[in-house]
Amino acid sequence: MSVLTDKLADRESCSICPALRKTLSVPLRIFLSPSAKLSLTGQKLFHGISKIMQQKLYLCTVFLCTLYIYYILTMIDKINALLQEVEAMTAANAEELEALRIKYLSKKGAINELMADFRSVPAELKKEVGMKLNELKTKAQEKIATLKEAFESQDTGMDELDLTRTAYPIELGTRHPLTLVKNEIIDIFARMGFNIADGPEVEDDLHVYTKLNFAADHPARDMQDTFFVEVNPEDVTKNIILRSHTSSVQVRTMEHTQPPIRVICPGRVYRNEAISYRAHCFFHQVEGLYIDKGVSFTDLKQVLLLFAQEMFGSDTKIRLRPSYFPFTEPSAEMDISCNICGGKGCPFCKGTGWVEILGCGMVDPNVLEACGIDSKIYSGYAFGMGIERITNLKYQVKDLRMFSENDTRFLREFESAY
Ligand code: DAH
Repeated sequence: MSVLTDKLADRESCSICPALRKTLSVPLRIFLSPSAKLSLTGQKLFHGISKIMQQKLYLCTVFLCTLYIYYILTMIDKINALLQEVEAMTAANAEELEALRIKYLSKKGAINELMADFRSVPAELKKEVGMKLNELKTKAQEKIATLKEAFESQDTGMDELDLTRTAYPIELGTRHPLTLVKNEIIDIFARMGFNIADGPEVEDDLHVYTKLNFAADHPARDMQDTFFVEVNPEDVTKNIILRSHTSSVQVRTMEHTQPPIRVICPGRVYRNEAISYRAHCFFHQVEGLYIDKGVSFTDLKQVLLLFAQEMFGSDTKIRLRPSYFPFTEPSAEMDISCNICGGKGCPFCKGTGWVEILGCGMVDPNVLEACGIDSKIYSGYAFGMGIERITNLKYQVKDLRMFSENDTRFLREFESAY
């Protein structure tokens, strides 16, 4: 019995595994019978083996715990290091800021990686580590939002900065030859008391044809085939077209102004023409109109002579040839002596010594009446010329297309022209 008590005391002194002691104490008690001596030897052996195993298990547990604590501490260290990084975060531009957002807050970012590791943190440490992780995430989000706001509220003047612009100094352009000539024409007529009138390029038939005495089915309309914007089959006067001449501005002026009227109307006009060196689907005209009491053909002739001499030189001669326009009666076409050959005859004037520059005539009384002007009191003259034609004569541009090709080599030729 004393042996048994000793063994029991020995076994009970085993402090490694109190649970094992408990379980062993049951068979021990069972074997504490007079025939229990043998069993005690087995129990002794069993206890010895379990003691070795328990020691190994103990070491193993200590090792694992150390590893685990090390791991948890490293995780907290990582969070602290990231917290510091986030606090010190700066970005010079939006691209840098986006790179920071990706680094910390994207799906594969540093914070999400820690979140994945968080799953293996033991329950008793979850609260502490979780709080730290949340603090890191919120700080990173706040910092990025603050930096973004700072960029957006910054007036960088970026809106006005054109990054596509050449770094080289912008070349100074020149006035277009047609503008130069148009200005010269305006200047000459301004000195004779003419004002400038303007009108729309997209016009109705009423102002381009009907009020200018073109009957709805008159073949004269074919002389100026244009582009139709809107066709009204019931009422041709309501067709919307691109104006084929600046004479439409005469109509608009007379509709709104009572004589005396003395205007010139420069502007772009359109015709349905095949494009070649001598014709284009758009070109420029200057219209002239003078309405007053007692205006005669002599006045027209004198004004046109003065114009020709101012424009092409004082020895320029003019001649008027009878012609037809629906809105003038009588009508004429005016030639000037060829300023290239001085009237001797050259390829430009086709050997005639004369070149045609404009159409003109006395305003038809029907036109005056259609525009609300009393033809019994007032009379007037009108004329119209092509700016391209005058420019050709002045600068001998052989190909009309050059005017609209934007070739700077051609345009630079006129650098010294004003
Ligand atoms: N409008 C005419 C045309 O484009 C030019 C013209 C001729 C205008 C005679 C006039 C004029 O004012 O009286 O061909």
